[in-house]
Amino acid sequence: MDIRTIAVIGAGTMGNGIAQVCAQAGYRVIMIDIAPEQLRKGMEAIARSVNKLHEKGKITDDQKRAALEGITTSTQIEMATEADVVIEAVFEKADIKKQVLGQLDGLIRPEAILASNTSSISITELAAATRRPGQVIGMHFMNPVPLMQLVEIIRGLATTDETLGTVLDLCRRLGKTPVEAQDYPGFIANRILLPMINEAIYALMEGVGTRDAIDTVMKLGASHPIGPLALADLIGLDVCLSILEVMQAGLGDDKYRPCPLLRKMVAAGYLGRKTGRGFYEYSSG
Ligand SMILES: NC(=O)c1ccc[n+]([C@@H]2O[C@H](COP(=O)([O-])OP(=O)(O)OC[C@H]3O[C@@H](n4cnc5c(N)ncnc54)[C@H](O)[C@@H]3O)[C@@H](O)[C@H]2O)c1
Repeated sequence: MDIRTIAVIGAGTMGNGIAQVCAQAGYRVIMIDIAPEQLRKGMEAIARSVNKLHEKGKITDDQKRAALEGITTSTQIEMATEADVVIEAVFEKADIKKQVLGQLDGLIRPEAILASNTSSISITELAAATRRPGQVIGMHFMNPVPLMQLVEIIRGLATTDETLGTVLDLCRRLGKTPVEAQDYPGFIANRILLPMINEAIYALMEGVGTRDAIDTVMKLGASHPIGPLALADLIGLDVCLSILEVMQAGLGDDKYRPCPLLRKMVAAGYLGRKTGRGFYEYSSG
């Protein structure tokens, strides 16, 4: 399949990063969000990231230009009609994703592919909300997208070999390394990562260590580039909570129960970097 146009639905933490790497690779990109403010912030984040990568010599002049000029934004989902591939990156809520994918299914060409950037929700379940389950697949990018090498690829029960092949090829064209995971809640990355983050929040709540002690122990003692509490802030505490809920329900095991302190932080609106406050405070939201 010849891919020219990619629509990215959601311009948040992940959506703007996905739009950036697709544009950098020379694809025409349409980034769509229901919130105009998110589109504005997303384009600002892309410009900051592209300029930084260019200064460091990590991307060429052409890639910089492609990223800055190759993205159109819209609040209208109908703008996705021309896309060969749509990558959905809206909130980590199954009902919202199903509604968005169902709507896209009625809009885009029959041969186009619908990919979801979900962190934990069943691809098989999302695919069933469409009439093209063979062309639905999980493309789980890592945060921050322009810097992280991995894309976890998840086949639903009905995903065809052709869809898988097209998406593996697309990942490589984006300069990423795809790794296949089976369709179980949390796939590989979050099945392993989120219990660690949740445990770090329990350790904080129970006073086992301070925030800085917990993060320092994991950085200096386990060679993690950032501590688990800083990582939770980077992911978004609401996203962490949603993933844990999906794993607890889907795997039926209370070892995935979200820490009450995580719930409290989310209830307070302390969602991490994106709101300027999580376990740490940040100068801009
Ligand atoms: N944050 C991470 O580290 C991370 C990593 C990998 C995957 N993910 C997954 O990526 C997806 C997006 O996460 P995020 O962190 O970017 O969230 P986010 O909250 O930063 O952004 C979500 C965006 O979706 C938009 N949106 C909501 N409903 C919409 C709709 N109906 N149509 C169009 N736009 C809509 C919101 O306005 C918002 O801008 C989730 O499925 C999440 O699990 C997140």
